[in-house]
Amino acid sequence: MLKAALQDAQKRVAAIVDAALLDVDLPVADAMRYAVGGGKGLRGFLVCEGARLHQETAADHVAAAIECLHSYSLIHDDMPCMDDDALRRGLPTVHVKWDEATAVLAGDALQSLAFELIGNAPMDAAPRVDLMTSLAIAAGVRGMVGGQALDIAAETAPSPLTLDEITTLQAGKTGALITWSAMAGPRMAQADTAALQAYGDALGLAFQIADDILDVEGDAATVGKAVGKDQDAGKATFVSLLGLDAAKRRAKVLVDEACDALSPYGNDAETLRDAARYVITRDK
Ligand code: IPE
Ligand code: IPE
Ligand code: MG
Ligand code: MG
Ligand code: MG
Repeated sequence: MLKAALQDAQKRVAAIVDAALLDVDLPVADAMRYAVGGGKGLRGFLVCEGARLHQETAADHVAAAIECLHSYSLIHDDMPCMDDDALRRGLPTVHVKWDEATAVLAGDALQSLAFELIGNAPMDAAPRVDLMTSLAIAAGVRGMVGGQALDIAAETAPSPLTLDEITTLQAGKTGALITWSAMAGPRMAQADTAALQAYGDALGLAFQIADDILDVEGDAATVGKAVGKDQDAGKATFVSLLGLDAAKRRAKVLVDEACDALSPYGNDAETLRDAARYVITRDK
């Protein structure tokens, strides 16, 4: 059920991105298509599920938008000036396959495309403006970019970050886009976002803890990216601060919190609960 829903959302996202780039014949557009493909598609799936819970059927553009935004963040995250990674989703990273200029530009253009897609989404103007403004905030200096800046700064911090500081960092770099994805459905319907916000906040933190655990315990061939890098780079993570066992316990508590937050939706939200459980049991 979850696997099928993830794949289904992925397929619809790929179709929208392909259509948006159909008439562009440039290496940078090839890099954009390449970067959007092959991920788990969790964020696009969250958009589609949240929309379904609110009887919204026109979620595909919005799902594609968040996958473009997320893929841009990964292209830049992998560059030599940031995490310096050569492998992503089992394939060479964009700056390795093309070059650094193409990676910067493909990231930039994917970010623009995200807003173009929402601007062109088949829905009323009010939810479109709300989605665009909230995505700008989630992606920007109060969200993903702010968290990424804290992540890079932590590598050279004179003393280890506190639990509160790591929570703030991760809520920005990973949580902001995941929470935005979860809230997009009720935003489309101009309905109450509180339950899906609480779900997204807990899920986002659990997701990053699982990512940090995979960096320690994962197998690079399965994970599709280099592992064992965070400690060497001096990254501030729940694992670096609490150790593996406590980080795993924390992730479980967060998943329970995420599932509980869905109670207003009853059994209808079971696929989202499955997604929360999957986030901490995944092997990639
Ligand atoms: C990786 O995100 C970056 C983090 C926020 C930890 P995902 O693990 O969702 O990456 P893909 O899209 O599935 O490759
Ligand atoms: C990246 O976190 C988060 C963003 C791209 C915003 P990580 O640096 O831990 O992600 P991976 O491990 O490279 O996927
Ligand atoms: Mg990083
Ligand atoms: Mg990285
Ligand atoms: Mg990581």
